[in-house]
Amino acid sequence: MLSYSQPSYQKQDKGVELNPANPSYHPVQAPGKNTTAKMAANLAGSSPYKLWNFTTDSVIRCVHCHGDYRLATPAAPPAGNARLAPHTSRYRGLLMNNLRDRVLKPKDEPYAAADFALCYQCHAEAPYVDKSGDPRSDTNFPFHGMHVVDIKNMGSGGTSIDTPGDGQGNALCSECHYRLHGQGPNARGNPSGDRLVNFAPNVTANSNGDLEWDGAQRSCSLTCHGVEHNPKQY
Ligand code: HEC
Ligand code: HEC
Ligand code: HEC
Repeated sequence: MLSYSQPSYQKQDKGVELNPANPSYHPVQAPGKNTTAKMAANLAGSSPYKLWNFTTDSVIRCVHCHGDYRLATPAAPPAGNARLAPHTSRYRGLLMNNLRDRVLKPKDEPYAAADFALCYQCHAEAPYVDKSGDPRSDTNFPFHGMHVVDIKNMGSGGTSIDTPGDGQGNALCSECHYRLHGQGPNARGNPSGDRLVNFAPNVTANSNGDLEWDGAQRSCSLTCHGVEHNPKQY
């Protein structure tokens, strides 16, 4: 919590977030809990920023995300165990690559891979640019691409991820995956805490007062970018 009023700026306890007893987390302390074939294919796929092909059995290091940005070179990726110490970075949060996670996309701004370069160091890009909504082998959520590249005119709110009701263009990863390190049960809109689904403050309840992702039912009840999900199924 500490000093900042906007939730996206607040500092969290990494020991709590990354605890392997949590329902979901980036696998720093122990391998992760998403062992689906689609998760495996997602990590094996390519992207313009790809550095490493981790697997669902991998353990990763803080410096794979908070690492030396000068070594983020897909043509000659550093070894997984390389010295990546982050004494400085051109990217916020001593991140190894760019990540847009606070300023929402204004209406009509197109998708750009560079906004999510950090994620694409390890995750494939293809699932996030397929706007068809058809099932794919490399994601359990076939509407990833639709949200990230194909809602550029939806909503009339502002562009702060911390303001309820904001959102007017293509979505950011962090609107649905708000805290990246890990989470216990009762993440926002996610009682199970699974899959790092955690809705940002700009996402609000629907007209029934529901704000929930239900992983078992594969459905969402909420309002986002002016659109009510009451619920919507995938
Ligand atoms: C999967 C990528 C990833 C890994 C692995 C990771 N981080 Fe982060 N970390 C991020 C991102 C993304 C942010 C948000 C940056 C921002 O918006 O300022 C962040 C922010 C932070 C912050 C500041 C805000 C906060 O959440 O407290 C601290 C401190 C931090 N990380 C420490 C760590 C430590 C320590 C480790 C290893 C034990 C670690 N991180 C591993 C991606 C990662
Ligand atoms: C250094 C490599 C690395 C980076 C960078 C990275 N991830 Fe991951 N991520 C992984 C690995 C490995 C897994 C698989 C964990 C598992 O099998 O449970 C994973 C899993 C996930 C999951 C699923 C978690 C679950 O329990 O189902 C989400 C969501 C996710 N990552 C989002 C992101 C986003 C968003 C970014 C960018 C902000 C990002 N990741 C950056 C390595 C990375
Ligand atoms: C509109 C909400 C939403 C947005 C935006 C979003 N995700 Fe997800 N993501 C989900 C949901 C829901 C799941 C869980 C699907 C399941 O397991 O049923 C998920 C799962 C994942 C996983 C686990 C593997 C998989 O796909 O099954 C990864 C990795 C991931 N997301 C990365 C990202 C990245 C990177 C971005 C941005 C480029 C992003 N997500 C944007 C909702 C979203």
